[in-house]
Amino acid sequence: MLAILGERLERWKSSPRKWDGGYIWHGFRGIVLTLLQDRRFARDRGKLLTPVIEAEYVQMLFDPDFKSSVAQAKGRTCLDVARLANLWNLVRLCGPGIFLEVGTFQGGTALHICNAMGRSAAPFYCFDPFEKGGFENMTELDQAFKPDDYTSTRYQSVVDLLAAKPNARAIQGFFPAAAEGLNLRDIAFCHLDVDAYNATRQCLEYLAPRLAPRGLIVVDDFGHRETPGVNKAVNEFLAAHPSFLIFPMFPVQALLVPKPLW
Ligand SMILES: C[S@@+](CC[C@H](N)C(=O)[O-])C[C@H]1O[C@@H](n2cnc3c(N)ncnc32)[C@H](O)[C@@H]1O
Repeated sequence: MLAILGERLERWKSSPRKWDGGYIWHGFRGIVLTLLQDRRFARDRGKLLTPVIEAEYVQMLFDPDFKSSVAQAKGRTCLDVARLANLWNLVRLCGPGIFLEVGTFQGGTALHICNAMGRSAAPFYCFDPFEKGGFENMTELDQAFKPDDYTSTRYQSVVDLLAAKPNARAIQGFFPAAAEGLNLRDIAFCHLDVDAYNATRQCLEYLAPRLAPRGLIVVDDFGHRETPGVNKAVNEFLAAHPSFLIFPMFPVQALLVPKPLW
């Protein structure tokens, strides 16, 4: 909580609108809502099934490569270890083609996907507006976010983070517009982590006809209480594209599989 308050104070101090009444009111409202949400989360935590998994039996949690990758992503990703484990397995399951991430923020999952790709020479592209972020075309389903959330990152820091991965390229901008000119085809894998309704819907439409044989899409935040827009976008996409199968994955991801390509 203190970290969140500190971050908001810093953002307020550096804003040119810091003495604007509307801006102050918006910030104050955000703090009150965060406090209320924290109380709700604390109350709900007591009702959970625990322990969530019996970690000591999970072979993967002892895999040195996986552990090292999780350690590298730590502090730069919004994903928990369970979701990182799903990514690790699925990156290694798909067929040949190009690898993508849409929604990269500070680069944690981008680096983790590159680590999971191992020695593969396949190209990897990740897309995000970075410091120019965070969302466009938001709807009432995206109330957990403000248009300028996720700006506490820098394009150059993600470029530096991926510097040791010769096939990786970070691209600044909103997908799919930012992919114009790249002529993306034969997509083997995409991690789609854009949180909001319109962005998820639009990205899925772009990706579907460009998948390679044995291609996969992993959607983050499916089943997340704070992002109902992601579920709506995925469900609408499935209704419009019955050739796709969905596998919800614990805790809050979905795997989309194009049946004819498998
Ligand atoms: C939850 S963060 C991504 C976290 C990251 N995958 C990780 O955990 O390492 C969501 C990001 O998606 C970005 N985003 C939103 N809409 C986008 C779009 N249309 N194209 C690319 N990025 C987008 C936001 O700016 C934000 O940085």
